[in-house]
Amino acid sequence: MPSIKAILKESSKRLREVAQSPYKEALALLANSLKKDTLWLMSHDEIVIDLPSDYLENIKKRENYCPLEYLLNIASFYSRDFYVDKRVLIPRPETEILVDTVISISKELTQPTIVEVGTGSGIISIILALHVDNAKIIAIDINDDALEVAKINAKKHGVSDKIEFRNSNVLNNVDEDIDILVSNPPYIKKDEILEKNLSYEPDIALFGGDIGDEILKQLADETIKRNIKVLACEMGYDQKDKIENYLKKYNKKAEFYKDLAGFYRGFLLREINLSQ
Ligand SMILES: C[S@@+](CC[C@H](N)C(=O)[O-])C[C@H]1O[C@@H](n2cnc3c(N)ncnc32)[C@H](O)[C@@H]1O
Repeated sequence: MPSIKAILKESSKRLREVAQSPYKEALALLANSLKKDTLWLMSHDEIVIDLPSDYLENIKKRENYCPLEYLLNIASFYSRDFYVDKRVLIPRPETEILVDTVISISKELTQPTIVEVGTGSGIISIILALHVDNAKIIAIDINDDALEVAKINAKKHGVSDKIEFRNSNVLNNVDEDIDILVSNPPYIKKDEILEKNLSYEPDIALFGGDIGDEILKQLADETIKRNIKVLACEMGYDQKDKIENYLKKYNKKAEFYKDLAGFYRGFLLREINLSQ
């Protein structure tokens, strides 16, 4: 039987191509299979064990680019752990900028009604529920499977009573007056060839249509039509010009923000009319 040390050495070698931190990932997967914490494994690495079969399967899946988050059913966002599986997009760090922006805008409003379109794992609405007092939050997704995951996470973070989860195609099932509309919608072009790891995530969470920005434009249309005070959206790094041009028909100008890598990553559309 191999020692823990030998298992981790061998697995790290196998994950070299795919993982940035192969040893750390192998350690996390083994800890998960053995139901031990990683510190225990590191301090007992001379112990010999039977190789758990689910560990071997997971190493194989990871070698084939399955994201670690799906294998561990956990992803970190805003310094909290969220349950994830293949029904939802894995939270991305850049989405924290969108959440920060909405938190600071929310504080300027009393009892804002916030609607999130495309809640997925629920991360955005849940962090908002934890940081914005007295907000009415409606979290929407077109996919019931995703809504189930979001509800698991709302319960995990103690905010089930602060968020209403609703199935809707964009705002079709929303009649309420909205103060803030927030979304990290699917925004990738239909035919785009994706990196291998992205192919594990749900198509409905990634692809926005033939061009990619269809839902972003729909959200802008709804914002204007319904007099929503603020629209806050994440977008693709190359979509700034398209959004800017689209808003010209309304004589509106968005404020674009960048991510930590310096790419334009999202925008805010507020009640400002250029002609005023
Ligand atoms: C990019 S994911 C974002 C998930 C999560 N909010 C996040 O930031 O990690 C987009 C989500 O939008 C949902 N979605 C796609 N099309 C939609 C539509 N027409 N109306 C509502 N939700 C939609 C998908 O099911 C998916 O959960």
